[in-house]
Amino acid sequence: MNRRAFAGEGEARLVEKIREPASFNPELSLVAVQDEQVVGYVLFSDIIIQGREGDVPALALAPLAVSPEFQNQGIGSELVRRGLQECRRLGHKVAAVLGHPNYYTRFGFFPAIEKGISAPFPVPDEAFMVLELVPGALDGVTGTVIYPPAFNGV
Ligand SMILES: CC(C)(COP(=O)(O)OP(=O)(O)OC[C@H]1O[C@@H](n2cnc3c(N)ncnc32)[C@H](O)[C@@H]1OP(=O)(O)O)[C@@H](O)C(=O)NCCC(=O)NCCS
Repeated sequence: MNRRAFAGEGEARLVEKIREPASFNPELSLVAVQDEQVVGYVLFSDIIIQGREGDVPALALAPLAVSPEFQNQGIGSELVRRGLQECRRLGHKVAAVLGHPNYYTRFGFFPAIEKGISAPFPVPDEAFMVLELVPGALDGVTGTVIYPPAFNGV
């Protein structure tokens, strides 16, 4: 499904690599199902914001995908909303995403640069976003997001 949604292998491989370690926790790997068919997928996985005051744990939302024939029916939004709800329930405090600002700001994401947080690679400021799952979680936090090796080359 990821291959079809993204018309390529990159994101499907990313999911496989993130799921590889024995320590992988599938609680934040969510599918949308319609008529017993998987039509959407979202994954949240561990990253770190390397700050001046020390490392702050966070989650990366990546990838988010909906089967082409099921897009624009609210499935992606539902996956993000339910996913963020689960992140909060499990006690996570911060999420980050690289994506389209028009899409992700509707869930409360805002440009990370506003908090002095940057991506480890060149990216337009407005496309790299964070969300405080707990209000104030990013107060006093500045730094660079560090992705695990699974993300290399994606
Ligand atoms: C992006 C994607 C996950 C959205 O899921 P969806 O179920 O189609 O979207 P929803 O029905 O929840 O929301 C529809 C809105 O998303 C917008 N949208 C759809 N695809 C988009 C995209 N690639 N970039 C930005 N916005 C997009 C629509 O224009 C619509 O906007 P509106 O509400 O202002 O009219 C889905 O289209 C998809 O899988 N695309 C291919 C893979 C991809 O680009 N993933 C994003 C990774 S960051």
